[in-house]
Amino acid sequence: MTAKKSYEPKRLLITGGAGFIGANFVHYWLKTYPGNRVVVLDALTYAGNIENLSSAKSNPDFRFVHGNILDYELMARLLREEKIDTIVHFAAESHVDRSITGPDAFIETNVKGTHELLKAAKTVWLDENPGMPHLFQHVSTDEVYGTLKENDPPFREDTPYAPNSPYAASKASSDFFVRSYQETYGLNTNISNCSNNYGPYQFPEKLIPLVITNILESKALPIYGDGKQIRDWLYVDDHARGIDLIIRKGRTGEPYNIGGINEWANIDIVKLICELVDKRIKEDPALQKQYPDAPVCQGNVAIDLIRHIKDRPGHDRRYAIDPSKSNKEINYQPEEIFETGIAKTVDWYLTNENWWRSIMSGEYQNWIKQQYTEND
Ligand code: NAD
Ligand code: TYD
Repeated sequence: MTAKKSYEPKRLLITGGAGFIGANFVHYWLKTYPGNRVVVLDALTYAGNIENLSSAKSNPDFRFVHGNILDYELMARLLREEKIDTIVHFAAESHVDRSITGPDAFIETNVKGTHELLKAAKTVWLDENPGMPHLFQHVSTDEVYGTLKENDPPFREDTPYAPNSPYAASKASSDFFVRSYQETYGLNTNISNCSNNYGPYQFPEKLIPLVITNILESKALPIYGDGKQIRDWLYVDDHARGIDLIIRKGRTGEPYNIGGINEWANIDIVKLICELVDKRIKEDPALQKQYPDAPVCQGNVAIDLIRHIKDRPGHDRRYAIDPSKSNKEINYQPEEIFETGIAKTVDWYLTNENWWRSIMSGEYQNWIKQQYTEND
């Protein structure tokens, strides 16, 4: 059994830091470890938004680089010039539905991109600077384990991989490449496999923000199939804390599962959000003015917007995480209670109308890309 780490990162490269979890992680890290260098590398795909990092821009420890993890030369140059000791690798194509309609981008970024990043890390950390303390923290998903039946025990770190969607297959493949660089070349790595996240800055194509924003516009709430599929929901800050603990205290080379101990059927979570949004708007005249199309402003209820539609092909029935290894070895447990986490999330979307309206416009995306493109 490898020894527990006691590792203090000082100079981090965060890939995909302009996306949902990456941006929350950047804010968490800058707040928790002032003085650490935080370099974000992001391709600003449709899912990445530099505005997610706007409060970090004035921090002298922070730098944003617009670039692609497929660009080996850029990765190696950044590792050298910024003397990076820790990579936290979030960058990915992350939406299962998009992986069904267009799997190629998932193989490019999630598999090939991860491999280019691993190669750059090996070159700079192992070949050019042997003995240099370093860590490649790979952020992965519980979806690599496939699906559970109603009474199956939750996923453990030794549950065999059985990915069902092209997204899950691409993440599983990237996990295997990370493992192979640990075993073959001695690159120091950790993999975290986390359950479904929710919270601020999540692109409104994923279930929770999609439902909140659709209610505000009185659009249908699409439920795939019977809606009884189960996910284990975790507030995004708890994911950030889990990754932090793995980086500093986990055993090198070990995978760790991070979960919410919080299983919900999709239909129940959608109904809960409907009730929360109705209630918030009902009690606040300013919100009634801001969202005149919301069902409560029309004398209706959000729940009536629910529509059962054709199921997602290969739809995994249930995900659940057994958190005992993370709990025992790195003392991890989620802190946010679901009732407060989901209420905070609903409030965040109610308050940040400009954010969700603008990121859904392609024109805005193109504009923002031009503003931040570096001539690397
Ligand atoms: P996201 O789609 O919101 O963000 C992905 C980010 O990666 C975006 O900023 C995008 O611009 C960037 N990116 C995409 N391709 C890139 C490339 N080739 N080069 C550089 N940057 C690129 O995703 P998310 O939900 O924040 O997920 C982040 C990571 O966490 C992913 O690896 C995902 O597999 C994993 N994960 C997500 C969840 C979840 O519930 N969302 C759960 C467990 C694990
Ligand atoms: P999603 O947020 O896409 O995450 P994942 O597929 O990675 O778990 O979906 C969460 C669950 O919600 C999943 O079971 C699919 C379901 N879902 C719907 O029923 N309707 C929707 O419009 C979406 C986006 C998801």
